[in-house]
Amino acid sequence: MTEQLIPAISREDRPRSVDAQLRRRAQTVIPGGMYGHQSAGPLPREYPQFMREGLGARVWDVDGNEYVDLMCSYGPVVLGHKHPAVEEAPRAQAQLADCQNGPGAVMVDLAELLVSTVRHADWAMFAKNGTDATTICCTIARAHTGRSRILVATGAYHGAAPWCTPRLAGVTAEDRANLGHYTFNDLASVVAAAKDAGTDLAAIVVSPFKHDAGFDQELVDPAFARGLRELCTQIGAVLILDDVRCGFRLHLGSSWEPIGVLPDLSAWSKAIANGHPLAAVLGSESFRDAAASIFVTGSFWFSAGAMAAAVATIGALRDEGAIEAMDRAGTALRAGILQQAAARGIAINYTGPAAMPYLTFAGDRNYGLANTFAAAAISRGVYLHPRHNWFVSAALTEADLAQALAATDEAFAAVHARQEGGVRT
Ligand SMILES: Cc1ncc(COP(=O)(O)O)c(C=O)c1O
Repeated sequence: MTEQLIPAISREDRPRSVDAQLRRRAQTVIPGGMYGHQSAGPLPREYPQFMREGLGARVWDVDGNEYVDLMCSYGPVVLGHKHPAVEEAPRAQAQLADCQNGPGAVMVDLAELLVSTVRHADWAMFAKNGTDATTICCTIARAHTGRSRILVATGAYHGAAPWCTPRLAGVTAEDRANLGHYTFNDLASVVAAAKDAGTDLAAIVVSPFKHDAGFDQELVDPAFARGLRELCTQIGAVLILDDVRCGFRLHLGSSWEPIGVLPDLSAWSKAIANGHPLAAVLGSESFRDAAASIFVTGSFWFSAGAMAAAVATIGALRDEGAIEAMDRAGTALRAGILQQAAARGIAINYTGPAAMPYLTFAGDRNYGLANTFAAAAISRGVYLHPRHNWFVSAALTEADLAQALAATDEAFAAVHARQEGGVRT
C-alpha cells in the first residue's frame, strides 16, 4: 500500500506530554483516572486518553496528534465532527436560551419529525442518554402490562443502570431479579425464557443486530425478528428495539424497517443529534397512555439546544444522503481491509454492517493480535478499536479512506510480524 501517504510514526515520535500530565492529574481527582467506555486504561498504551477537537472525519488529541476517526465518539457522530448546519442550530437556539422553565417549541418540531421519519412511532419522549431511553422503555412496558419481567439477549449491552450494567459491583440481586435471558437469533431460547417468565413477562428487549463488544457481530435473521414480533403480540409482551447504537446510522427510520418488523417501543440516542446530548423513546399508539402515566424527567432533558441539533441532524441525514454515504465508505473500507488481510495470509473475521464493522483475528486469545493491530493503526494516525465495533461517518472522504487503509496495511504487517514471532509494532 501507499506507505508514503502516511509514514510509520513510532510511539516514541508521537508527543504525549499533555496527555501524560492530564492522566497524572486525573489520577488524583477522578476515580481510577477515568471510567466508563472511554477509559483508555484497557487500550494499548499508544492510545491517548484526552482529546482536543474534531473536524469532519478527523480528530486531534490534546497533544495535537491527528487521526482519521473510525470510532466517531463511539457512535454519536454520523455526519462528521462540527457539521456546519448541525452546529448552527444549537448556536441559533442559544441566542434565545437553552435550558429554561419549559421546553422550546423545537421539542414539538422534533417529535413531529421523528413521528414522520420512524414508521412505528406515533409519539416521542426525550431524555439525555441511551440508558435513560432503554430504562424508560422498560418502565412504560411495565406500566402498560402490569407485569415485571424483562428479557434481554445474553451479552447484549443496553446501558449502565443497575438493571442492565455488565459490571455487577454495587448492583443488588433485587436490581436484577426481574431480568431473564435468551440467545440472539435463537427463537427457541426466547420461547423458553418467555415460558420461564410465565404470566409476568412485560417486555423483550432486542438490538437490531448482535453487536456485543469484543465479539464477532451477527446480523439479525429476519425470521428471528418476525418470530419475536409474533411472540410478543401473542403473549401480550412489549417488543422494545434498542436502536441506541444503530439508529440513524444504518437506515433513516428504525433499523428493522428494511426487514419489515416494527417494535412497540424503541430507544434512541447516540447519532440522533450528531454528538449533542439527547435520547428519545418512540412508541406506537397503544402505549401512549402508559407513557403518559409514568414519571420520568431530568434537569437537562428538555434543553432546546440538543433538540435543535437533532432536527438539523435528521434533516442533513436525509438531504445529504448520509446513510448511503456511510454505507459506501464502509463498503470500501471493508473491501480494502479484506484485501489487505488476504494479501498477507492473515485469517480475520470482519463482521457487521459496512457502517459499523468489527475486526477480529482467528485464534486471537486475549486480543493480543487485535491490540497489536490497533496499536499500529493509532501510531499511524487511525483511531479504531480492538474490542468494540467501529463507526463510519458520512464525512469520511476518499483521502481519509486512503490514509486509513495505508495505516491498516501497516497494522496488518505488524500482526504478521507478531504471528511470525517478530516484534514489529
Ligand atoms: C445498544 C445500546 N444501548 C444502550 C446504550 C447506552 O447508551 P448511553 O451510553 O448513552 O447511556 C448503548 C451505549 O453504548 C448501546 O450501545
